This record gives sequence, structure tokens and C-alpha cells, in this order.
Amino acid sequence: MFVILFVTALTAYLAHELWWKRRNLPPGPCPVPVFGNLLSLNYPPPGYEAFEKWTENYGPVYTFWIGNTPHIMINTFDKLKETFVRDGDAYVDKKNPPMLQLFRGGEYGVMDTNGAKWREHRRFALTSLRDFGLGKNLMQEKILIEVQDVFRKFDENEGSETDVAIIFDNAIANVINQLLFGYRFDEAKQDEFVALKKIIDAPQDVFGKFHMFLAMNVPIFRKILPNAIFEQPDRQLANMCLDLWFAGLSTTTNTTTWAIGYILNKPKIQQKLHEEMDLVIGSDRIITTAEKNALPYMNAVINESQRCANLVPLNLQHATTRDIVLDGYHIPAGTGVVAQISTVMNDKQVFTDPEVFNPDRFIDENGKLRKVEELIPFSIGKRQCLGEGLARMELFLFLSNFFNRYQISPSFSGPPSLIKNSGTVIAPRVFSAIVRKRH
Ligand code: HEM
Ligand SMILES: *[C@@H]1O[C@H](CO)[C@@H](O)[C@H](O)[C@H]1NC(C)=O
Ligand SMILES: *[C@@H]1O[C@H](CO)[C@@H](O)[C@H](O)[C@H]1NC(C)=O
Repeated sequence: MFVILFVTALTAYLAHELWWKRRNLPPGPCPVPVFGNLLSLNYPPPGYEAFEKWTENYGPVYTFWIGNTPHIMINTFDKLKETFVRDGDAYVDKKNPPMLQLFRGGEYGVMDTNGAKWREHRRFALTSLRDFGLGKNLMQEKILIEVQDVFRKFDENEGSETDVAIIFDNAIANVINQLLFGYRFDEAKQDEFVALKKIIDAPQDVFGKFHMFLAMNVPIFRKILPNAIFEQPDRQLANMCLDLWFAGLSTTTNTTTWAIGYILNKPKIQQKLHEEMDLVIGSDRIITTAEKNALPYMNAVINESQRCANLVPLNLQHATTRDIVLDGYHIPAGTGVVAQISTVMNDKQVFTDPEVFNPDRFIDENGKLRKVEELIPFSIGKRQCLGEGLARMELFLFLSNFFNRYQISPSFSGPPSLIKNSGTVIAPRVFSAIVRKRH
């Protein structure tokens, strides 16, 4: 009797998990109870290969289960244009795991809000960036102060092993902090920087770990998560600052250090960069954005670094704002949808040998920078990164000035490993290297 009951219950459960709950959704990999398809992202990390295989098997649209929640993945550039761009309003909401609100103390900020609150604060953030001088020289001046500071630190350590990421992280934090609070972390404020980093890195450290990534997304693991860190009276303001710090610091720092890591693994590329610098700049003077178009190879290196760094293997999760029909499937309002940009940037049809770091793919037959619209590290659609302008300016000014001034070579233990761990934003391995002035 008991056995029959058990077998019936088990059969019903499995039928529900494996068939019933999936019956109206686009086909996709079979979810495991509790975890959905998340475990596959760790074999191997950070999950690009699983996403690529599923796109091959199921096509540009398939269903991916995050825990118990289905997400419709959009995996090719054409399909993204058809959905996130041409029908943008239908894909604009965010679908947030409920624990996120616990962590923030409610629905605040810009990254995880929806509707009028999101629209208002997105506009506010963009206007503030513009007022602060983006598009004018003011922003550039602030960044160049940090470039000089980076120079000072590398000059002091010339010839000895130096932790590259720490220096850029401090400089990039200063840029964003100038913008949010009007001051930078100079020598006297290093303690404050360290304290603030601790707060900011707490979620990063926490959510960077695979078991925490699971805990975020699988309800029964939530108990191990830390409590809300935001007890401030003005939660909207606190969360807005958190968003800009969080979204703007690790992404920009990690892209910068990925670029240097790739170049340390390919000395020829540094040589070509130096040839371009010697031809176009010819001294150790400061490079400004006015010279951006004169340095196509430098730009190609930045483009390829962003493509290969491919920082978010699983992009932020959106939700449909209304019922939609996609490839004949009726998708109800509130369903998870993801612009799968990491798969697009690894698309073999567009980027031959996508696993190879090859800046020349962005140079055309006349030696000019080639525009490749499938390069979408800042995502696409109405939620596209609002810091793109700032990030591009920082990447160009930090990297071009760095490579104009220095020759960098691997530490005694060799060039940094390029192997990726799993996580939300994929940080490179921490590494040190040796810099020498070129002029
Ligand atoms: C190389 C650097 C950066 C990369 C690769 C990057 C990438 C991204 C991506 C992929 C998204 C998700 C878009 C989506 O939901 O589909 C995003 C959103 C966002 N980014 Fe960035 N980002 C960078 C730098 C920055 C900077 C410097 C800032 C701030 C000043 C910033 C602020 C934001 C914000 C606030 C959002 C949420 C926008 C919204 O939900 O409306 N990012 N970014
Ligand atoms: C990645 O970003 C984090 C957060 O800003 C930073 O602490 C870390 O040093 C960065 N790692 C590398 C290698 O760039
Ligand atoms: C490549 O990088 C340059 C800036 O360094 C940027 O202006 C350009 O838009 C990038 N290309 C693509 C396709 O994103």
C-alpha cells in the first residue's frame, strides 16, 4: 500500500517537473528539481559552453530554469533586435529574486526597480552623469587626474612586482566617488576606501561564490545569505549609490585588468600597441579622447578585451511586462526573459575562433576600426547599461595612457591565468606584473 502511494506520488511529481510545468514554454534543457538548470553552468564554469550547446540544440530561443523559475533566453543578435529592441517595452521589467529586496531593504535604486520609479531614477542618473560633465571635458579632466595618480603609483614601483588590479580599482573607485559624493580617496582617505570596499565587496565576495549564486536563486538555500546591509534612513539614495558603485566599479576595473591579462599572455599585441603609440603619439604626453580615432589598434584591443572578458555569462534577469507571442509560444506577462549577450559575443558565425584573443578581428582591410554590431558588452534594449559612456571613456583613457607610458611584463611566476571561475561578474585572477617606463 505504502509502496504504491509512494510510487504514485513520485510519478506525479516527476511528471509535473519534467513535463507539465514545461508544456507551454519553448523547449530547453531538462531542469533538475530544486536547482533547475543552474548546476550545468559549473561544468565547466562560468557557463558559456552550456549556453552555447543549448543554443545549438534548441535554437535562438529556449527556456532556462533558474531554480523553480523559467526564463526565456534570447541567444542571437537578430532575435535580440526583434525582441529587446523592436518590442523593447515588453522586455523592460526586472525579475528579481525575492531575497534581493531583503538585502536592499525594499524595492529601491535603479537596477532592480520597475515602472515609474525605475524610469524616474534612470533619467535622474543619466542627467546627473551629463551634468557632471560626460560629453564635455569635465569628466575627462576628472579621469585624467586619476590617470596621473595611477602613473605615480606605477612609477614608484617601477621594475618590481606590482599588483595591477589594486591600483586601477582605487582609481576607478575615485572616478565614481567624485561623481556620487564629490571627493576622491587620496592618501588621507585610504582607510575610508578600505572600509567602503569591505561593504561593497561583501555582496561581491558572497555572490561571487558558486554556492551563493545558487542560494540567490534557489529558495531553500536562502537561509545562508547575509541580512540586509542597508539600514540607512534614505533607502532610495543609499541604493542608488550602491547601484552605481556596484555596477560601475567591478565591471570597469575587471575589464581593465582582463585587458592587461590578455596582453601579458600575448607579447606581440603589446608590441603592436607600442608601434601605434610611437607613430601617433611619439612621447609620454597624456592622451585624450580627441585622439581616440587616431588609435584604431588601441580601440580594437579594448573591443576585443570586452568581448573576451565577457563579464556576465548570465545577464541580468528581466521580466515581460505583457503577454507576448514568441516563435509561436504564448508567454504570459511577468515571465523571466534574458538578453543572452555572452552567447552572442561568442557566436562562431560572427567571431571566428571566438575563444582566441585577437584584436585584429576589429580592424578592416584599410587598417581602420571595424564596427561589429554583435559586440554588445553593455547589453541591448531599454535597460542597456546607463554607465556605458563613462565606462568607455575610462577604458580608453586608462588603457591608452598606460600602454603609451609603460612596457609591462609578466611576474616571475609567468603571465596570469585566464581561466574563469563562476559568478555574476567574472573577475580575472589577481596578478602582479612588472612595469617599466618607455620614455
Ligand atoms: C566595462 C564596464 C561595464 C560593463 C561591461 C557594464 C555592463 C552592464 C550590463 C551588461 C548591464 C545589464 C543590462 C541589462 O539589464 O540587460 C548593465 C546595467 C547597468 N549598468 Fe553597467 N556596465 C559597465 C559599467 C558601468 C558603469 C561605469 C556604471 C555607472 C556609472 C554602470 C551602471 C549600470 C546601471 C545603473 C545599470 C542598470 C540599468 C537599468 O537597470 O536601467 N555600468 N551594465
Ligand atoms: C575585480 O573587481 C573587484 C571589485 O571592484 C576588485 O576588488 C578586484 O580587485 C578586481 N579584480 C581584478 C583582478 O581586476
Ligand atoms: C570599440 O571601442 C571603441 C572605443 O574604444 C568604441 O568607440 C567602439 O564603439 C567599440 N566598438 C564596438 C563595436 O563596440
